[in-house]
Amino acid sequence: MDHFTRRDGVLHAEDVPLTRIAEEVGTPVYVYSQATLSRHARVFREALAILPDVHCAFAVKSNPNLAVLRVLRAEGFGADVVSAGEMRRALAAGMAAGDIVFSGVGKTDDELAEALDAGIGQFNLESEEEGEALAKIAAARGVKAQCALRVNPDVEAGTHEKISTGKAENKFGVPYDRAAAIFDRLAGRDGLAMRALAVHIGSQLASLDPLEAAFARMGALMEAIRAEGHAVTHMDLGGGVGVPYREGERFPSPQDYAAMVARVTKDWGVRLMFEPGRVISGNSGVLVTRVVRVKQGVSHPFVVVDAAMNDLARPAMYDAWHDFVAVTDRGDTMVANIVGPICESSDTFAMGRDIAAVETGDLAAFRTAGAYGATMANTYNSRPLVPEVLVSGDRYAVVADRIEPAEILAAERVPDWLA
Ligand code: LLP
Repeated sequence: MDHFTRRDGVLHAEDVPLTRIAEEVGTPVYVYSQATLSRHARVFREALAILPDVHCAFAVKSNPNLAVLRVLRAEGFGADVVSAGEMRRALAAGMAAGDIVFSGVGKTDDELAEALDAGIGQFNLESEEEGEALAKIAAARGVKAQCALRVNPDVEAGTHEKISTGKAENKFGVPYDRAAAIFDRLAGRDGLAMRALAVHIGSQLASLDPLEAAFARMGALMEAIRAEGHAVTHMDLGGGVGVPYREGERFPSPQDYAAMVARVTKDWGVRLMFEPGRVISGNSGVLVTRVVRVKQGVSHPFVVVDAAMNDLARPAMYDAWHDFVAVTDRGDTMVANIVGPICESSDTFAMGRDIAAVETGDLAAFRTAGAYGATMANTYNSRPLVPEVLVSGDRYAVVADRIEPAEILAAERVPDWLA
């Protein structure tokens, strides 16, 4: 459920017509609904309340906007971060350092040191080598870093290949068969307090079965590690629950997910940690765009919009589907190819799509753009960096400015030898 609804034929974010935001802020523009974010966060946490001891860390990568993080902090979420940049955002949003989990295969020594000094709650180590590096940095400071070992369970997630992370050939975590030995060796290092295992097999999962299989494998590994005399007090089950992108699609509910987790983890006796991203932020945002022109095509007309693959990369990168809806419904339909202005064929949002009829100058919205939308935007073709707006009831605020090409140009230099 979200708070993007049509009133008098005009699509609104809560009580604000998207036409008003488009006129006042310009397009393309991401628009988030605070009520939707809060609702998704609450529904997720309430579903998990059937579990004895839970920590929810929002996957910042899905939507790192400061205002968004602020909303999630108020809902009791910590953060799952994958860079010093994301960590600084979570801290700037007021999240307690102890509620932050630091994941990622390539944390540099500088990032590890910064996170340690900030008092980050848990490092999810993705390799023995990373563990050794962190142990040195922590021991030099006379502290112990709280750590989880991320394990690659070699489970097929059944999602798009580019967002699968839990097969043996993927770069994430340590191989399942070597995990117990690595855990044992790292537990012997001065600077490390090994307390947990972590797993994340992929994103936009449509079925709970691969998650259940992965969690069951993690439970067995946890038992083996305990049998060696180690205390495992936390288990991090990652994120990955998918969301509907198309009208009518069905996905597992947070309640189904929680029931599955409760079943698999019932005897674990640990604090369970979760890293949801898309399920919280995905349907909380839309990308509002204006039709630049409708151009005749061979089979279908091309609807050329002012948003492009630099603003919303998912269709170009993962062949992802985003519903495209007219902001003001003309009551007619058409079949069209929806494309952006960038000079690449992959700058295509949809081919031969049945849509509400649009004409030059009309406004439209790509739905389910709150996750992995603005955060993956860039300035390719010297386009501006897309702005973001947060709506709450009948108010809205620009929560990220449009960064104009001139500002980016101002950060570039011509060296003396070319002057
Ligand atoms: N935890 C870890 C360790 C992750 O790598 C991810 C996502 C998450 C949690 C959050 O997963 P979620 O609950 O959002 O599925 N750009 C792609 C998605 C990449 C996901 C990367 N990792 C897309 O647009 O579909």
